[in-house]
Amino acid sequence: MATGDGLSLSTGVGGHGLATARAMGAGRERVPRNAPEIFNRGHAFFTSMFWDSRIARDEDDPTGFAQPAGSDLPLGFEHPLEVQAMFPLTSDAEMRGNPGENEIANAGSNPAIWDGLEARVMAIPEYQELIAAAYPGVPAEDIGCEHIARAIAAFEADAWRSDDSPFDRYLRGNRDAMSASAKRGALLFYGRAGCGDCHSGVFQTDLEHYAIAMPQLGPGKGQGADGDEDLGRGPISGDSADDFKFRTPPLRNVALTGPYGHSGAYRTLEGVVRHHLNPVRSLRDWDRSQVLLSVSDDPEDLFSVMDDPAKVQAIAKANELGRVRLTKWQFDDLMAFLHALTDPAMLDLRSEVPLRVPSGLPLAD
Ligand code: HEC
Repeated sequence: MATGDGLSLSTGVGGHGLATARAMGAGRERVPRNAPEIFNRGHAFFTSMFWDSRIARDEDDPTGFAQPAGSDLPLGFEHPLEVQAMFPLTSDAEMRGNPGENEIANAGSNPAIWDGLEARVMAIPEYQELIAAAYPGVPAEDIGCEHIARAIAAFEADAWRSDDSPFDRYLRGNRDAMSASAKRGALLFYGRAGCGDCHSGVFQTDLEHYAIAMPQLGPGKGQGADGDEDLGRGPISGDSADDFKFRTPPLRNVALTGPYGHSGAYRTLEGVVRHHLNPVRSLRDWDRSQVLLSVSDDPEDLFSVMDDPAKVQAIAKANELGRVRLTKWQFDDLMAFLHALTDPAMLDLRSEVPLRVPSGLPLAD
C-alpha cells in the first residue's frame, strides 16, 4: 500500500490479512500512530525518523544518534533509516508480541531482543550466505542484528527511491511535465497558501515540528491525565512547549499514502488539506466515521480524546497554523500540484514482493 498499510492506525502482532483487509488478533493492542510512508528515506536529507523525530542525528551521542535505546544501540550505523529498522522489532504491539508467547518477547531488554533475532535469522543457511555476500570481510561471529537492520534499510532506500514525478520532471527542465493547473498550484503552495513555510526543501518538509490541531484517536501513547493522549514531540524534547507538535511530513507520492496525519484522522487528501485551511474548526467538526481501521472483537474506546472537551481544547490551544482563504479554483489548483508529486513508477509496487523468503515463512496468510 504505497509503503504504508492504508490504515489510520496499524494492526501489528496477531493480526490476520493484509493492509485494509486486516483484522486485529484477540486481546491485542492497536499501534498508536499512523504508519509513515518511507519513500526516499535513504536520502541524506533525512536526518530524523518518525512523527516525533525520536531517532535523529546527534553528533554528541556516541552512537551518532539520539534514539530510544541509548547506549544499548550497537555502533556503526550511518543513516537514521538503518537505526529505524532496529525499533519495530522491540515493540510488543508492532512485532515482538507479549511476554510468555515467544522467546524474543521473553528476552526483556533491547540487546537480548536483538541478539535473539540475529540468532534466529542466522540459523538459516540461505540468510548466512546472503549476509556474508552483503558484508564481505565481516566474520560470521561479528554479525549482529545491526547488520540485518542495515540490509533492510539498504533495500528500502533502493526500492523506494522516488524522483520521477511530473514535478521532478518539470524541475529537470521538461516544461510540459506539469499541467497549467498544477503549475498555478505550485505557485500557491510555495506562495500565498503558505504551505512551503513548513513543507519546504526537496521533499516538502523542513523536518521541524508543529502543532496543527490534528484530531487524535486510538489508544494514545500513554500520555496525558488518562494515558489516552499523544503529546508528540514534547515528551521527546522534554519541553512541554513542544506538546502536540509533530514533524512536517514529506509530500512525495502523498496522493497514494492515505489516511493522513499522525493519527490517520483524515481518509482523503482533500480532507487533510482542507483541515489546514481552518485547523481549529476542522478539529471541532471532524467526522470520525472516516477513520479506516481493521476490525476488532475487543471492546475499545477509540474516541476518548475527541469525546473530552478539555482534551480537544488542549489540542486547539496548541495550534500554530494560521487560517488560509482560497477560492474553489485555487483549491483545485493546489490539489493538482499535490497530485503532480506522484511518481507513476510507485503506483504499483507488487513487483517488489518476493515469491518466497529464505525462512520459508508465508508472505501472506
Ligand atoms: C505550520 C507548518 C505547516 C504548514 C504551513 C502546512 N503544513 Fe501540512 N502539515 C504540517 C504538519 C506538522 C503535518 C502533520 C501534523 C500531524 O499529523 O499532527 C502536516 C500534514 C500535512 C499533510 C498530510 C501528509 C501525511 O503524510 O499525512 C498534507 C497533505 C499537508 N500537510 C499539506 C499541506 C498543504 C497543502 C499546506 C498549505 C495549504 C500545508 N500542508 C501547510 C505542517 C504544516
